[in-house]
Amino acid sequence: MRLQGRVAVVTGGGSGIGLASVRRLAGEGAKVVVADIDSDAGKTAADSVDGLFVRTDVTDAAQVSELFQSAVDTYGSLDIAFNNAGISPPDDDSILDTGIEAWQKVQTVNLTSVYLCCKAAIPHMLRGGRGSIINTASFVATMGAATSQISYTASKGGVLAMSRELGVQFARQGIRVNALSPGPVNTPLLQELFAKDPERAQRRLVHVPMGRFAEPDEIAAAVAFLASDDSSFMTASNFLVDGGISGAYVTPL
Ligand SMILES: NC(=O)c1ccc[n+]([C@@H]2O[C@H](COP(=O)([O-])OP(=O)(O)OC[C@H]3O[C@@H](n4cnc5c(N)ncnc54)[C@H](O)[C@@H]3O)[C@@H](O)[C@H]2O)c1
Repeated sequence: MRLQGRVAVVTGGGSGIGLASVRRLAGEGAKVVVADIDSDAGKTAADSVDGLFVRTDVTDAAQVSELFQSAVDTYGSLDIAFNNAGISPPDDDSILDTGIEAWQKVQTVNLTSVYLCCKAAIPHMLRGGRGSIINTASFVATMGAATSQISYTASKGGVLAMSRELGVQFARQGIRVNALSPGPVNTPLLQELFAKDPERAQRRLVHVPMGRFAEPDEIAAAVAFLASDDSSFMTASNFLVDGGISGAYVTPL
């Protein structure tokens, strides 16, 4: 119960890593506000933890601002912002085949949304004198892939750099900002991508020392750690939870 009395907002809380984190944060005592563009999934997630659902398109500044205000109005503070919503559409591929519209869509949902969420969350946290912001980047912010999704990778690099800068800027005001960088995780986002292209899945799996993808609960455990005071001396970090992929040269057979 490390998060008793804390209020958490989770974007993309209706599915995958977000959903597992909603459950884990609530399980540790937090009041959870679920934000998702998918009303059915988001409401189901919020109801399952007796939390609040706020339908939010994280690319819309007014909706994002309303989301964080609703958290404060309903539960009295904002202590944790897990800015996690993201997409990985198939038309984002090699730079040679990716059009400007596909590029911009991914930049807006994955990177601009994190800018909007941090911009809306930080003033509430400054008023409360504390806060933990966790922005979902990815191991691809640290490593290059020959199976390219060029805008996705660039967006996650942006999330990593922005998180580092915010962590430094607000370090003396009680606000910690960390980038969470999962390795490949067994979620709908990844399953969809790999179902269409099993060779692509195999090419990736061979590089993971553990020989498997992460389960969402294993990422949620890291979110709970970064959200809690157990990580009180961590800020501006790139927190990799990747099964060893970023440290590997040759993997076990
Ligand atoms: N799955 C992986 O292997 C993996 C690895 C590294 C990083 N990530 C990142 O983790 C995060 C979560 O991914 P996931 O695998 O759980 O995906 P997911 O598709 O299971 O869940 C994403 C959620 O975000 C929501 N969403 C999408 N666009 C939105 C918008 N505009 N506004 C509000 N909500 C929106 C979706 O409705 C969905 O509920 C993403 O940022 C993703 O890039 C995933």
